[in-house]
Amino acid sequence: MVASSISQTRVWFITGCSSGFGRALAEAVLERGETVVLTARNLQQVEDLAASFRDSTLSIQLDVTKPEEVKEAVKKAIAFFGRIDVLVNNAGCEVAGVIEEVPDQEVRREFETNFFGVLEVLRAVLPHMRQQRSGHILNFSSIACFRAGAGGGIYGSSKFALEGISGSLANEVAPFGIKVTMVEPGWFRTDFFRRSYVLMDTQIEDYKPLINEISQWVVPVQEMKAKAPGDPKKAALAIIKAVDSDNPPTRLALGADTVKTIEAALEFIKAELDAWREVSVSTDFDEVVANEAQLV
Ligand SMILES: NC(=O)c1ccc[n+]([C@@H]2O[C@H](COP(=O)([O-])OP(=O)(O)OC[C@H]3O[C@@H](n4cnc5c(N)ncnc54)[C@H](OP(=O)(O)O)[C@@H]3O)[C@@H](O)[C@H]2O)c1
Repeated sequence: MVASSISQTRVWFITGCSSGFGRALAEAVLERGETVVLTARNLQQVEDLAASFRDSTLSIQLDVTKPEEVKEAVKKAIAFFGRIDVLVNNAGCEVAGVIEEVPDQEVRREFETNFFGVLEVLRAVLPHMRQQRSGHILNFSSIACFRAGAGGGIYGSSKFALEGISGSLANEVAPFGIKVTMVEPGWFRTDFFRRSYVLMDTQIEDYKPLINEISQWVVPVQEMKAKAPGDPKKAALAIIKAVDSDNPPTRLALGADTVKTIEAALEFIKAELDAWREVSVSTDFDEVVANEAQLV
């Protein structure tokens, strides 16, 4: 099946369109007349959106942890629309718990989605973007990369891993006209804590107070009795603004909470760097230090 007329608008390929950011972004992009490859693990969850925007959507079942499904989904999208202009690696999940205790199986499950799943999608889409000499990739990271919350280490490490490849990828693909942006949301009112988040209980007495403290925060959120400040619809507009820009950011912080957290993290890093500067710079070979002194 091929689209009747190849879309002149940008084609967005978004993972995890069933809810939250993925859904809000797909809606916003479609409402402004662009084209979306709606991907979801369960296609029933995007049926209504596909029905409302029949001519500008293609729905494809996609679990990012299944490499064959990823390859097939990208192949179908390219065969249908002829191109992918914007790739949004949005799908993600969190297994929270203490580092000493979260089972390896759960750690690996988290990385399969948040890191290896994204890697698989990137590797399927990049050949097309390189060939078309254009494209924009958005990788959903998190405020977690700037705030080392107790109990959030496994999630944070999966997002750090993603940030690790995103920076290098940006440098690798810039010569081919491809841009890369890390999207760093704070706390947003999506389905995340109800559907995509699991808090592991602890069997270790020492950690019980911490897990209790986290549950006291998480349970009301899961029951939707506590409200996150961030609006996913506004986040979608901010992301579109970044994609529209001739000079998009490498990192797009979303939410006043993220901005504050990043500012605090930068101040802390600067203060620590200054406090330990002498020790830090004392490790170069003597001849290097002497040469530098001569150059000054
Ligand atoms: N909400 C926040 O406060 C917040 C903050 C920082 C970062 N984030 C990041 O934002 C992104 C989107 O999350 P959200 O807040 O919008 O939560 P959400 O409403 O729960 O959406 C998560 C999406 O990811 C999909 N997903 C999970 N595992 C998948 C897999 N293996 N294959 C394909 N899709 C999968 C889910 O699909 P199903 O419907 O099939 O489960 C769902 O569509 C995530 O990467 C998350 O880490 C969220």
